[in-house]
Amino acid sequence: MITSERAVRAKSSVDRVTAFFSRIQAVAQDPDALDFTFGNPHELALSGLTDAMRTQLEPQSVDWYAYKTNERPAQEAVAGGLKRELGLDFEPDDIAMTQGAFGAIALALALVADAGDEVVIPVPGWFCYEPMLLAANLVPVTAALDATDFSLDVEAIERAITPRTRVVIVNSPSNPTGRIFDKQAWDELADVLERASRTHGRRIWLLSDEPYRRIRFDGIHFVSPMSSYPWTMIDYSYGKVLLAPGQRLGYLALSPLLPTAERQVLREALMPIQLALGWGFPNALMQHSVPALESVSIDMVELTRKRDRLYGALTDAGYTLTRPQGTFYLWGAAPGGDSQVYCDALAARGIHLMPGTIFDRPRHFRISLTATMDMIEQALPELVAAAEN
Ligand SMILES: Cc1ncc(COP(=O)(O)O)c(C=O)c1O
Repeated sequence: MITSERAVRAKSSVDRVTAFFSRIQAVAQDPDALDFTFGNPHELALSGLTDAMRTQLEPQSVDWYAYKTNERPAQEAVAGGLKRELGLDFEPDDIAMTQGAFGAIALALALVADAGDEVVIPVPGWFCYEPMLLAANLVPVTAALDATDFSLDVEAIERAITPRTRVVIVNSPSNPTGRIFDKQAWDELADVLERASRTHGRRIWLLSDEPYRRIRFDGIHFVSPMSSYPWTMIDYSYGKVLLAPGQRLGYLALSPLLPTAERQVLREALMPIQLALGWGFPNALMQHSVPALESVSIDMVELTRKRDRLYGALTDAGYTLTRPQGTFYLWGAAPGGDSQVYCDALAARGIHLMPGTIFDRPRHFRISLTATMDMIEQALPELVAAAEN
């Protein structure tokens, strides 16, 4: 075999997603296609993003485009923002700047997990956890969300934990379901993790994957599990709130609630691991832009309008949907019970949704609300007609 075993495992785990991705890239070339698959923009980028980058483009010192690691102004802006949002006492040294949430997840895993360690991931959940774990020589172990309302099933996580568990990954607001988990769920999870860490004599880390933290509907409150469990790291991406996932920017945040000695050891390990992972920092332009970008966001009023229009019309037509509390996804049961058949039939009519097979839930489907209102209105008659099949 010419590639490593982990490359083979990672490839086979993500084959169905890459095959789907290639098909959708071809679809995207068709101006008449209605593409509701990935969380990609369908309108020009926010002026808040392009203004920030334009302002920072002109070098203001000779080292403006020198090697950049975790730049102080970026760390300060992130720590300040997190302090305001989560009410925890973050300091700039707790923050590692990364290339989106992807980079922050890879960093968190390299920071605390060794080859062969088990990592618990949610199902349905983001389809890149598994290949990332396999490529890092880690072992994915799935824990299902509640089958009816997709709330956090703490008992399922408890059952998934073994003496080899090192990390549990949670994601709220959740892709693909749009669910937000509350403080009670986090407190219950913290109890389980604390107990299991003691039983097995090994600390279990919680990685809170929060790229959709600022994308919430109806003023619903967000609580991070970091408030309940000190051994938590948060990964974040600006790719969602700016709807510009191609401009790689995010961070990993250590918990201010960690014991002081451990917090210091982790802080000192961040930069060397980022370097060893292949210079896992955002580029100079994005780092300079962070302070200005902290307050830029997609239009949540418009996103809410799109959620309400689709959710309302499809529910009226007979669909069973999970009403999104956050993220830009709408998740539902495929009419007829087979998401592949349902999505293929719509694709033949130029409407592209994501089948639940991508999320190991073949009876469901996902619609991305990053489509325009015009696309939604064009697709609705076919979507409504498909409810009767
Ligand atoms: C749950 C979840 N985590 C992490 C990511 C990665 O985000 P980014 O591409 O901005 O790094 C995504 C992207 O879709 C996601 O949905």
